[in-house]
Amino acid sequence: MTKKEQLDQLDALMSMCSNCALRSSCLRVVPGEGNPEAKIMLIGEAPGKKEDETGRPFVGAAGKFLDEMLGTVKLKREDIYIANVIKCRPPENRDPTPEEIETCWPWLEQQIEIIDPEIIVTLGRHSLGRFFPNMKISETHGKAFRKELPNIGKRVFYALYHPAAALYNGSMRETLIKDFRRIPKILEKIENGK
Ligand code: URA
Repeated sequence: MTKKEQLDQLDALMSMCSNCALRSSCLRVVPGEGNPEAKIMLIGEAPGKKEDETGRPFVGAAGKFLDEMLGTVKLKREDIYIANVIKCRPPENRDPTPEEIETCWPWLEQQIEIIDPEIIVTLGRHSLGRFFPNMKISETHGKAFRKELPNIGKRVFYALYHPAAALYNGSMRETLIKDFRRIPKILEKIENGK
């Protein structure tokens, strides 16, 4: 099976998931979207209102900002893959509970296994925190590192501030844009085996 076929199959399973209570309060599952062959995988936190309405990740204000940043490095949505740690919108956009995060986590593990990206870019502290509970985003952002994790393997990770958090915060916004611009160089280094 191609990666696309594998992801389509996984999306179909995800759309039937009722492993936690979130599915009963949201409109639809938001599995993720993008290029199944992507080298860059962006991982946000959870769908918001717009995402719940459309079934697509990052389509609200944060998504527009993300698209702008992709443009600055000459990338489009179709070049990358975007998913979230949590696939169903929590009511009123509350933080997901640790139980909800654990219940949803195997979906993301399977997405990562299929896509097999060169670099995993975490967006925001909740996304970083699920991969690396002891890391602080204020210290980790903008520095690529390679780590091995159970069911995820040895991969390069790169933490960024969340576009929604940075949208209206001048200095965080500048930091995020600066960190984002480094992605192509980091990818180039990975591909050159440096
Ligand atoms: N914020 C996220 O973390 N994910 C989305 O899909 C939208 C907003």
